[in-house]
Amino acid sequence: MSSLSDINEIEDLRRLARQRVPRMFYEYADSGSWTESTYRANQREFGNILLRQRVAVNIGERRLATRMLGQDVAMPVAIAPTGLAGMQHADGEILAARAARDFGVPFTLSTVSICSIEDVAEATGGHPFWFQLYVMRDRAFVERLMDRARAAGCPALVLTLDLPVSAQRHKDLRNGLSAPPRLTPWNLLNMMGKPRWCLGMLGTRRRTFGNIIGHVRGVDDMSSLADWSSRQYDPTLDWDDVAWIRRRWPGKLVLKGIQDVEDARLACQSGADALIVSNHGGRQLDGAPASIRALPAIAQAVGERIEVHMDGGIRSGQDVLKAVALGARGVYIGRPMLYGLGAMGQAGVTRALEIIRKELDLTMAFCGHTDIRAVGTDILLPPHPPAS
Ligand code: GLV
Repeated sequence: MSSLSDINEIEDLRRLARQRVPRMFYEYADSGSWTESTYRANQREFGNILLRQRVAVNIGERRLATRMLGQDVAMPVAIAPTGLAGMQHADGEILAARAARDFGVPFTLSTVSICSIEDVAEATGGHPFWFQLYVMRDRAFVERLMDRARAAGCPALVLTLDLPVSAQRHKDLRNGLSAPPRLTPWNLLNMMGKPRWCLGMLGTRRRTFGNIIGHVRGVDDMSSLADWSSRQYDPTLDWDDVAWIRRRWPGKLVLKGIQDVEDARLACQSGADALIVSNHGGRQLDGAPASIRALPAIAQAVGERIEVHMDGGIRSGQDVLKAVALGARGVYIGRPMLYGLGAMGQAGVTRALEIIRKELDLTMAFCGHTDIRAVGTDILLPPHPPAS
C-alpha cells in the first residue's frame, strides 16, 4: 500500500511510516514515557465522549475557518512542535511547513528541529510560522533563539514549560536514541532496510540539530552537542523566567504544558496570549490525566481571559470537534503530522490535514452545526467531562 488513494485515515499513514522510517526514529515519535499510560489515555479518552446527532437541520453550507492567536486558519488545527521531524523524512520540517502553509494552518517549529529557523523561513518564502522555545541554562543562547525567530518573522513564540527535567522513554534507551545516536550494527542494518529514507538523507545536508549546531560556542559536532544538551534543560525555570520572556518577546506568547487550573490562572497573570493544555504527548509525566480530560476545567476557569488550546491524542476530525466543544479554540497535531511525513513527505502531511478536515466537516454536519465557531457542549451527550 503506498498510493494516496489508499490513505483514508491517520492510521494508514502511521502504518506506512512504520514501514518506511528507521525504527529508532519511528519509535521516538510513537512512544510515551515510562509505562506509556498517559500516552495511551490521550487517545483512548476521546472515545469516552459521545456526540449528539441532530437531524433535519439545514447543513448545506458549512464553515471550518476560524482564528487562532488572531490569525485566520482554515480549521482550528495547528501543527505541533515535535523534535527531530527532519529524521522522519529528509528536510521534514521544511516539508511540513510548506504543507501547513498551502493548507492554511499554522506550523510550529521546535527548538530541537533538524531544519533551522532560517532554513524554514527561506524554504517557505517568508510565510510566517510559530516557534517553540525551550528555556536552556545558557540564557544567551535563549536570547539569540528569540532574536532569530523574530528576524525570521515568527509572529508567535510557544514556550514549553513541562520539560525542566526529562522523563525516561524506554524505547529511546533501547534503540540507542541519544545525541549522538548509538549507531549499533543493528541500527545500521535497520536503516539499510529503508532505502527511500536513506536516499533522502543522503540528498540533504540537514542531518543534525539545525538551531543548535554552529550557534553555540564550542558545539560544532554531534558529540559536543551531546555534552551540551545533556546539561542544558533548566530545572530552575519558574514564573520569573516566563515574565522575563514576556518582556523580551514582542509577539504573541503561548504557554505550553498546562494541566492544572491553578497553573492556568498563573498563565493568565503572566500576560501570555494563549495556553496549551498538554502533557507533552504523554512523553513527560506518566500518570498525568489525558489532555482532553484536563481541558474542560481549565477552559471553564480561564477561557474568557486567555485563548485555550490543547494537544494530545488527536487522531481524527471527531477528536478535533470534541476538543473544540469542550472549550479549545484550536488544537495541535504532532504524531499525525509525523506519520504523514514518514509515510510520504509533504504529500503525507497534506493528506493528514485533508483527512482531519473531512472528518471534522462531516462530523460537525451530523451534529447539526454549520459553523465551527458556534460549536459548544450542546453537541455532546452528558456527562461532560465524561465519566471514565
Ligand atoms: C521533545 O520535545 C520530545 O518530546 O522529545
